[in-house]
Amino acid sequence: MLSKQSSDEQILSSSILVVDDNPDSIEITQEMLSRNGFTSVTVEQNAVRALSRVITDEFKVILLDLLMPKMHGFVFLEELRKYNLGISVFIVTGMNDQETCMRAFDLGATEFITKPFKEKELVARLRRLLVTSINQKLLATKAQFFEEIASDRTIELEQAQSEIIRRLSRASEFRDNETGLHVVRMSHYSQAVATALQLPKRTVNLILHAAPMHDVGKIGIPDAILLKPGPLTDAEWLIMKTHPTIGGKILGGSSVGLIQAAAEIALTHHERWDGSGYPAGLCGQEIPISGQIIAIADVFDALTSTRPYKKAWAFDDAFVFIQKQVGKHFSPAVVAAFEKALPEITETYQQFQE
Ligand SMILES: [Fe+2]
Ligand SMILES: [Fe+2]
Repeated sequence: MLSKQSSDEQILSSSILVVDDNPDSIEITQEMLSRNGFTSVTVEQNAVRALSRVITDEFKVILLDLLMPKMHGFVFLEELRKYNLGISVFIVTGMNDQETCMRAFDLGATEFITKPFKEKELVARLRRLLVTSINQKLLATKAQFFEEIASDRTIELEQAQSEIIRRLSRASEFRDNETGLHVVRMSHYSQAVATALQLPKRTVNLILHAAPMHDVGKIGIPDAILLKPGPLTDAEWLIMKTHPTIGGKILGGSSVGLIQAAAEIALTHHERWDGSGYPAGLCGQEIPISGQIIAIADVFDALTSTRPYKKAWAFDDAFVFIQKQVGKHFSPAVVAAFEKALPEITETYQQFQE
């Protein structure tokens, strides 16, 4: 509840609009309101004009007549309701049948009094309406305040999550031949492709921030295999190929969206469109879209990077290779998106070179 003093001040200074076609009636209401200390009263004889003022000016309460020539009070109520302004409407009318009263409430009126009325009664009911309206405003302000705090916290939490992801991916890089720039480039390639696929903004962001974790499972691969300069034996390959499953286990079971996306990517980034990938041999759309996107970004960057066992391919050669893998390694839609995103991909490629 409001404090007594502030409530009285606020109530009496609340802006009130009187809509009534009868000049005498308007004058009576005006005098009565001023006699009772209300200081912000606007009157309008023309209901159509009143409606446009309601939209542009700020009123707490409207005292509304019903039988008016330009616009019936019910039509006024119907129109007003469309704007959802939260203004209380107090019907002051000569019509005293119950049907009219019920219809007015149905159309959104908050109070109803019939003429002739007792001044004290109208003022008391008007004051109560204003108190309710002021309290509602207070509550709404408080709710907005808490909402803003909550959204600040959400941003902080999201930043914390993406930092954890970056740090975890750095941990995996320490054990790998790949450099930190690999994950920067491939996550940006993934973002560009996801954007070209017109995925929702939230999904694009999840993919961008989760992509760096794709190889976190390599933490579980022995150094002798992971850092071996020469080609791997078949047995070593089998072990190497467990890194998606290990990554999926490291990140799996989270209720956090970003970690869930990272788990999905870690587990599926070596699946292939034609079903010849690993670890599950998923085929076509069985592969989550995040995995399909990361696959192309990861391979493209691996091709265009120097590794201890190979030279970097030229950008155009790698691009041609990607196109040749349509329907084999990569999804046709994702390759098309990769082509569409070529300007952004070129920019990332040039920007993040050692
Ligand atoms: Fe991998
Ligand atoms: Fe990678």
